[in-house]
Amino acid sequence: MSDTAASIWDTLKAHQPQTLLELFSDDGRVGKLSDRIDWHMGEGDSAMTAGIQFDWSKTHLDDGLMDQFEQLAEAMDFTAKRAALFGGEAINNTEGRAATHTAQRGVGTDAAVEEAAALHARMKMLVKAIHDGALGPIKHLIHVGIGGSALGPALAIDALTRDLAKVDVHVVSNIDGTALEQAFAACDPQTTMIAVASKTFTTIETMTNADSALKWLADNGVADPSGRVVALTASPEKAVEWGVDETRILPFNETVGGRYSLWSSIGFPVALAIGWEEFTEFLAGARAVDQHFRDTDGRANLPLRAAFADQYYTRIRGCQTRAVFAYDERLGLFPDYLQQLEMESNGKSVTAAGDPVGGATAPITWGGVGTDAQHAVFQLLHQGTHLIPVDFIASIAPGDDLDPAHHRILLTNCFAQGAALMAGKASDDGARNFEGNRPSATMLCDDLDAATLGALIAFHEHRTFANAMLMGINPFDQFGVELGKQMANAIEAGGQSFDASTHALLARADLS
Ligand code: F6P
Repeated sequence: MSDTAASIWDTLKAHQPQTLLELFSDDGRVGKLSDRIDWHMGEGDSAMTAGIQFDWSKTHLDDGLMDQFEQLAEAMDFTAKRAALFGGEAINNTEGRAATHTAQRGVGTDAAVEEAAALHARMKMLVKAIHDGALGPIKHLIHVGIGGSALGPALAIDALTRDLAKVDVHVVSNIDGTALEQAFAACDPQTTMIAVASKTFTTIETMTNADSALKWLADNGVADPSGRVVALTASPEKAVEWGVDETRILPFNETVGGRYSLWSSIGFPVALAIGWEEFTEFLAGARAVDQHFRDTDGRANLPLRAAFADQYYTRIRGCQTRAVFAYDERLGLFPDYLQQLEMESNGKSVTAAGDPVGGATAPITWGGVGTDAQHAVFQLLHQGTHLIPVDFIASIAPGDDLDPAHHRILLTNCFAQGAALMAGKASDDGARNFEGNRPSATMLCDDLDAATLGALIAFHEHRTFANAMLMGINPFDQFGVELGKQMANAIEAGGQSFDASTHALLARADLS
């Protein structure tokens, strides 16, 4: 860390925070810390503007903190790093490559945007061919993939196809065969396609699941099981070797990171389930956030502002976790998705240059859905000894057609929790005392449609990037997942020596 950055951190640490209620004595606070990102959809009579309100007013950010964080961003070269991200430079320095996920949404270098558009055109043709029945009557898709090759599709399909999916998609990630068996039980082999989603096309869980899925087709009388396979990969040559016909390989560039790949051909099952038009809206929502993030400076940049608060709570207030509660059943998988995005990106101990970071890095992201979580974990949020910044996410428009009371009660509960965490309630009886002064942020969507989901995910991608830049971390590698994989391979290969506990466990399970 440079001397300038270190001295800014010293100033930040010396900052005496006011309580949230004290901060709210400023009448203009909500105006200063609650802003929208909007986008325009459709044309003519059907043209509309929609967006998300990002309310960070119930955090401890004040002008003094934000001044310092803006200086920190400058000291950490944030503007140049952001330009490098959008400019296709090798921002992923440890792997010597660019990070081109925004180009999938149309924001990046001309070359990267054109390449993504061409690959999308290929994907669109295959989606359309399947919808038109050109590959036979396809009713189900079993999507096998793991991590970034599964969590995004699972989230988007769960969020956007509650009514009726155009094709019934089952995302299977775990090597535990019970996951695949559950998908088999829900699908008719005669009308099922298999998508094998793997950036590297070597991941053992995915390749084992893919083999078993093909066997299931063959065992159930499908004459040409390989003819039912689509490969979504940045290693097309490996997919060919494995036996996928080139016409059914949807490639993407290796500069698209696994946990950032939902926008590329890894999004194929999403496009198949929601249709191509909606998939392009999904990309458009993300594009609106890309443009905001690329073109807005300082605290007005909403992902950067969120990162200021994240850094404040993690580094200065010592918060080890951050909780996310979606007050929307359709976003049940959102905390899981964010876990990978944030913890795999920023769960590091060294900077991009390989030096110790010099402070806590990514907090543990966890959460759930409201109001369920209120009756399970909110006790600790209100009265426990941990300080946990909370994010709330909700949609003004309901996702259901039932009595409006359902949605009204959902939203009032969401807003009440933020208010209660902040205000608290004093009591002489310790068990009934609420200290308050507990921070939260609220993301209030006009509606939870494809564009909004795209915008929400892109917001968190950029928030993760902004946090990484403030800490000097490379968020685009994940070497930390390698050692366990190597050990598993070594155990599988046999004949190697490990610690006594591992040997005893292997012997007990009859695996040595
Ligand atoms: O184990 C971590 C990881 O490398 C993730 O980053 C990635 O999304 C996942 O595995 C799956 O990898 P692949 O898409 O290459 O199968």
